Amino acid sequence: MDLLTQNKNNSNNTATAHLFSPLTIRGITLKNRILVSPMCMYSSEDGFANDWHLVHLGSRAVGGAGLVFTEATAVEARGRIAPQDLGIWDERHVEMLSRIARFIREQGAVAGMQLAHAGRKASVYRPWEGNGAVPATEGGWPDEVVGPSPEAFSDSYNVPHELTKDEIAEIVQAFVKGAERAVRAGFEVLEIHGAHGYLLNEFLSPASNHRTDEYGGSLENRARFLLEVVRGIRQTIPAALPVFVRLSATDWLPDSEPGFTPEESVAVAKMLAAAGVDLIDASSGGVSHKQQVKVKPGYQVPFAEKIKRESGILTAAVGLISEPEQADRIIREGPADLVALARELLRDPYWPLHAARTLGYDIKWPDQYLRAKR
Ligand SMILES: Cc1cc2nc3c(=O)[nH]c(=O)nc-3n(C[C@H](O)[C@H](O)[C@H](O)COP(=O)(O)O)c2cc1C
Repeated sequence: MDLLTQNKNNSNNTATAHLFSPLTIRGITLKNRILVSPMCMYSSEDGFANDWHLVHLGSRAVGGAGLVFTEATAVEARGRIAPQDLGIWDERHVEMLSRIARFIREQGAVAGMQLAHAGRKASVYRPWEGNGAVPATEGGWPDEVVGPSPEAFSDSYNVPHELTKDEIAEIVQAFVKGAERAVRAGFEVLEIHGAHGYLLNEFLSPASNHRTDEYGGSLENRARFLLEVVRGIRQTIPAALPVFVRLSATDWLPDSEPGFTPEESVAVAKMLAAAGVDLIDASSGGVSHKQQVKVKPGYQVPFAEKIKRESGILTAAVGLISEPEQADRIIREGPADLVALARELLRDPYWPLHAARTLGYDIKWPDQYLRAKR
């Protein structure tokens, strides 16, 4: 049985699936369907993980999530969003990341890393310190910001240098090298960040990609960079390890503006599946400051559902999922195979333990906390 068929069989198992049922993707089994969505912590120096990351990610593993993702982890220093982003561009990053991955694994969770490049949205202030571009005098890199076309995200961002084909090839290699280091550090699921208006998303969207070479124009051309990253990573990491891609399934632009659409997401998901991607993490937005997002609980679930139904690939749903019943229903009814939670897991790292109690599932608690289990 080939891997895609195997994955489809997993996802088709919806008759019995629920929030706390395991999911096997390739050689990795997640103990439940709860994924700690990637969240920037803006707490690194020179890309290094530190005690903050160990405690933050470790707490969510203790709290019972099946898959704990790092924040967007930069494959190049110039690909950081803020100067304080986590990185994987240097061999020396591996040591502390290994410690974090080991701790997560010891809790029975799987450690995942989101590999990222911020593209034209790089070199900006961390949210609690300001908005827009950080000048070189404050640790920014305005002259090294890159993108598909020489157009800034908005007036307060840097105008990027338009990447040449050779430079694109170098960034593909940076993703591959980052993936190889992540695996060596013990991360067993890799997610390529193709969403939120960062570099790979900037190439995918006709709102930000105005190139006339083979990396611009048709959808096949706009997806080329992402596919090269996927193929490079797939050839490098063990076949047993899953690769996810986070996509922004829509740019949320009015019909009058060119933008990436849910229909294009389905087409890209099919290309990605053929290249060895196992799951699409369906997010949205971030490419254009003109976006008009319609936010409500579970507002991105329909994107996960559409991508799964029309391409057959596994999906994760994310965005305003906070209630145990809501999360359980998403898995039981099948629009997605995993639920990714971000802000709710900042409010409550033990959300999975609490959700199990609410829903009546008896799950394993950490031995050290057993006396508190009701
Ligand atoms: C503090 C914070 C940092 C985030 N950083 C990332 C990131 O590094 N990569 C990413 O893909 N999404 C990032 N996101 C988006 C979340 O992963 C998630 O998609 C979004 O918050 C919606 O989910 P929620 O409603 O459960 O918070 C971040 C969100 C928050 C709140």
